[in-house]
Amino acid sequence: MYALLVSLLTATPLGTLASVQNTVRQTQTYAIQDWYDGSNFFSEWSFYTGADPTNGNVNYLSMSDAQSQGLAYVNSGDNTLVLAVDSTSSVPAGGYRNSVRITSNNVYSGGLFILDAVAMPVGCGTWPSFWTCGPNWPLAGEIDIVEGINNQKHNQMTLHSGTSNPCTIDVPANGTFTGSVLNQKCYSNQTADAGCSILDSDSSSFGYGFNEAQGGVFAFLWDNSAGMSLWHFARANIPADITNQSPTPANWGPPAGFWSSATCDIADNFYQHSMIFDITVCGGWAGGAYSKSGCPGTCSQMVANASNFADAQWVINYVAVYQ
Ligand SMILES: *[C@@H]1O[C@H](CO)[C@@H](O)[C@H](O)[C@H]1NC(C)=O
Ligand SMILES: *[C@@H]1O[C@H](CO)[C@@H](O)[C@H](O)[C@H]1NC(C)=O
Ligand SMILES: *[C@@H]1O[C@H](CO)[C@@H](O)[C@H](O)[C@H]1NC(C)=O
Repeated sequence: MYALLVSLLTATPLGTLASVQNTVRQTQTYAIQDWYDGSNFFSEWSFYTGADPTNGNVNYLSMSDAQSQGLAYVNSGDNTLVLAVDSTSSVPAGGYRNSVRITSNNVYSGGLFILDAVAMPVGCGTWPSFWTCGPNWPLAGEIDIVEGINNQKHNQMTLHSGTSNPCTIDVPANGTFTGSVLNQKCYSNQTADAGCSILDSDSSSFGYGFNEAQGGVFAFLWDNSAGMSLWHFARANIPADITNQSPTPANWGPPAGFWSSATCDIADNFYQHSMIFDITVCGGWAGGAYSKSGCPGTCSQMVANASNFADAQWVINYVAVYQ
């Protein structure tokens, strides 16, 4: 979420579909630790109300304000959780739109994290993310599982590490994942915070493409011995073992992104993470890259365009954590 401008022009396509043997433990099975859906998001997650650390044009609302303004609610029909940017109020150019950012009360130092979402926020100037973060940023690390800006078509997955024992994306892991490496160095601080990113090759992994596919699943495996792996499945391709709550990563084929423990002491760099959903507007990345996004006008002007934010919404079926 701290990621700034990372030029997509530097993308280095790595090989595809080679051996995935080293990325997951073949025999590992997983059991549910925590399950979050419309019945417990409001009791198990907290609403962050501080200033946006990425300098976005948003006011993050408390739970009661977000609920009374219709920016956080559960659909009674299908029990999905909706988190939204205000798309009705008049806000001046360069002003601040009401939005939400929620954080899990539980913290995790590993596991298999599954997000099933029906839709993610879209629209010029929006910058949604589903991410995890530890204490004392960047010391306990940050993992951006789903992130992108403006009209971006592909999910950008990023690790940020902060110890003196820095992580990189393992180039010999070439071929063990299907995405493209944007930046190899994970070390981040307040002034250099790009992190190590991999761009998903599938255009249903982000934005309008994700929503047109009726959403889907992101499955993030944080394995302190093997490394970090992220898969994305469009709705039509979700493995049955995920749907029937017996996820088996060894059956899923190569992940979209893989950060090997061969070039990262995972447990030293990533621990005690909360999960976070947010939607910011403009700010360091969506605002900084706006002029080359293909969106009209400036990001500050777009803040004033209420209808632009009509679909700036997360619609979430569930988040599950397995161990
Ligand atoms: C990645 O794999 C391709 C295909 O096997 C190979 O040509 C290339 O040299 C590899 N790159 C690196 C950096 O290992
Ligand atoms: C942040 O990291 C960059 C790149 O490694 C380094 O050049 C810079 O000195 C660091 N800044 C601080 C404040 O540590
Ligand atoms: C306002 O937003 C809508 C939806 O994104 C867009 O079609 C329209 O061009 C925008 N208007 C201006 C003046 O940018």
